[in-house]
Amino acid sequence: MHPMPTSDPWADWVLHARDGGCRAQARRTRAEIATHAQRLLTLAELRPGLVLADVGCGEGLLSWQALAMTGGALHVELSDVSPRLLRRARAFARLQRCSAQCRFASADATDLAHLAEASVDVVALRAVLAYVDDKAAALREAWRVLRPGGRLALAEPVFQDAALAAAEWRRALQFGSARDPLLPLLLRWQAAQFPSDTAGIARSAICSHNERDLLRLVRRAGFGRVHLELHIDQRPAGPDAWDAFIERAPHPLAPNLRRILAERFDAAERARFVRALRPQVEAGTLEADDRIVYLVAHKPG
Ligand SMILES: C[S@@+](CC[C@H](N)C(=O)[O-])C[C@H]1O[C@@H](n2cnc3c(N)ncnc32)[C@H](O)[C@@H]1O
Repeated sequence: MHPMPTSDPWADWVLHARDGGCRAQARRTRAEIATHAQRLLTLAELRPGLVLADVGCGEGLLSWQALAMTGGALHVELSDVSPRLLRRARAFARLQRCSAQCRFASADATDLAHLAEASVDVVALRAVLAYVDDKAAALREAWRVLRPGGRLALAEPVFQDAALAAAEWRRALQFGSARDPLLPLLLRWQAAQFPSDTAGIARSAICSHNERDLLRLVRRAGFGRVHLELHIDQRPAGPDAWDAFIERAPHPLAPNLRRILAERFDAAERARFVRALRPQVEAGTLEADDRIVYLVAHKPG
């Protein structure tokens, strides 16, 4: 059963398309997110007694990690644009008996009106700013709500390299066909996940920037003492069930492979593609390439 897309695409992706409905993959994703969150909160020098704003909180994974790291001695302001994910975060807080330390708000990262000026010690965004069109406005809001001496903490995926490579492939395919008939199909799959050309990439929230652009945006918003780490992890993806693999999309704005196969391949192409790719997916020999930028910056005290 494939859930129908709803009017809450963020929840659709986090709750289904990210892991393709596969429980084992969902467990792996959560373990990875916990590692990223731990790294980010450590860089941001999170400690007991602080106020943390978890902007674009989703189900609240970063907040639960922060509460665990501080023995529960933290006040957390969770906000998101997805009603379904916020509801899940609220329910999870009740389950963990930490509702008293949490406040929830439906808010866009560019308008944190529920937070007073200079009221927060750490503003954290994990895999959120990448999807915000007006990144400068989101950084201005982070600056406004932070106390002097407070920290902005980002852990964001970087998609620009993959998007530029896909646009290059698409262009190359227009000039003569490759000898291997499978190659154009593999490239069509990759290219379907990103804008079709460099102008589209420049306009897209998720691929318009690389880690140096983020650094410039953060400096322009007034932050100082910036520390940035770019982590690139290339490794075998590990064995996967084909039915879950085709349900998955690499980011919330991309179609999953099932849709790409249905809409962009004819029957013969689909059969050739599945014959070649499925054994690799099931054997775990496909390569995963994750690029994450960790950035911590200070509001001068
Ligand atoms: C990949 S999820 C990450 C969720 C969470 N930060 C985590 O670490 O698990 C992206 C989140 O960003 C939220 N989001 C997308 N655009 C947003 C915006 N403009 N303002 C606030 N949140 C946004 C989505 O609703 C979703 O919860």
